[in-house]
Amino acid sequence: MSASDDFQDRMLALGLGRVVEKAALSMADYIGRGDERAADEAAAAAMQEELSRLDLRGTVVIGDDESEHMAVGNLVGNGTGPELDVAVDPLEGTTLTAKDLPNAMTVIAMAPKGTMTQVPNIYMEKLAFGGNVPADTVTLDMDPATRVRALAKAKGCAPKDITVCLLERPRHMPMIAALRETGAAVRLITDGDIAAVINCAEPESTGIDMYMGSGGAPEGVLAAAAMKCLGGHFYGQLIYRSDDERHLTRASGIRELDRIYTRDELVTDHVIFAATGVTDSSLLRGMVRAPGYLQTETLLMRSKTGSVRRMSYRIPRARS
Ligand code: FBP
Repeated sequence: MSASDDFQDRMLALGLGRVVEKAALSMADYIGRGDERAADEAAAAAMQEELSRLDLRGTVVIGDDESEHMAVGNLVGNGTGPELDVAVDPLEGTTLTAKDLPNAMTVIAMAPKGTMTQVPNIYMEKLAFGGNVPADTVTLDMDPATRVRALAKAKGCAPKDITVCLLERPRHMPMIAALRETGAAVRLITDGDIAAVINCAEPESTGIDMYMGSGGAPEGVLAAAAMKCLGGHFYGQLIYRSDDERHLTRASGIRELDRIYTRDELVTDHVIFAATGVTDSSLLRGMVRAPGYLQTETLLMRSKTGSVRRMSYRIPRARS
């Protein structure tokens, strides 16, 4: 890539920061108001509008099909510039936002056209851990207890020193029991597994060594993009609850329905990832809604350079 292309790439990354920032700001009057759909719709509309100001020819490959603004297949950007795949979760944690609970954020990732796996809105079995051990240390083929022991061995610690994060769901109860049997600590979250996966990339500061369990497949691709920027490991395998879901998966272009995808198979080229906090999380500070102003925190990462940037933005309320 030429110096000029590189510059464009960086400018695009900064532009993406603005996209997630604007989507979060559109949430200002929805946090804690109980209306998940309205919040999601506002974020999607803000994303589409802000993307239309950027020099790119994007196609939404991971989107929000409940919103006309950011549905899969939509074209975004101002119609000039590079052709890109765009993956979004306009509001990751709709319930969290509606209830003013921690972990909600607005998320986008962008990569060259044809390099992000398009998955339908079904479940994915996920596994993530930090890049401080080799990628094959733990795999999705292993049962939960074996995963803990393998990671502990690679890290030179005991299973009781490992903390595993999961979504608190009835379907995960057997997995949680098996993990606790090993002596590992289990951190349960109510929603928001993109942030939970990202937390595994830096276990020294977050205290979370591994993420596992099933959650949204679109969120899995976004989490893989983030892990690619941070050098963490991620595996995902689609789960089907009906023939319809198999059909949807084939229709989205996937041929090997039972494949275990690595991070780099889900996102095959350089990727830019950006997220803005809506409510507080260990990853990002949530939006500050002071009487006179709004303030956001945004995380911006590029896999090509491994750069991680944090941006704080404060704006008088009427002008956001
Ligand atoms: P929403 O933003 O669509 O509410 O998704 C939140 C989330 O917790 C994701 O982070 C996760 O992947 C998925 O829901 C889990 O799905 P389920 O609630 O069906 O277990």
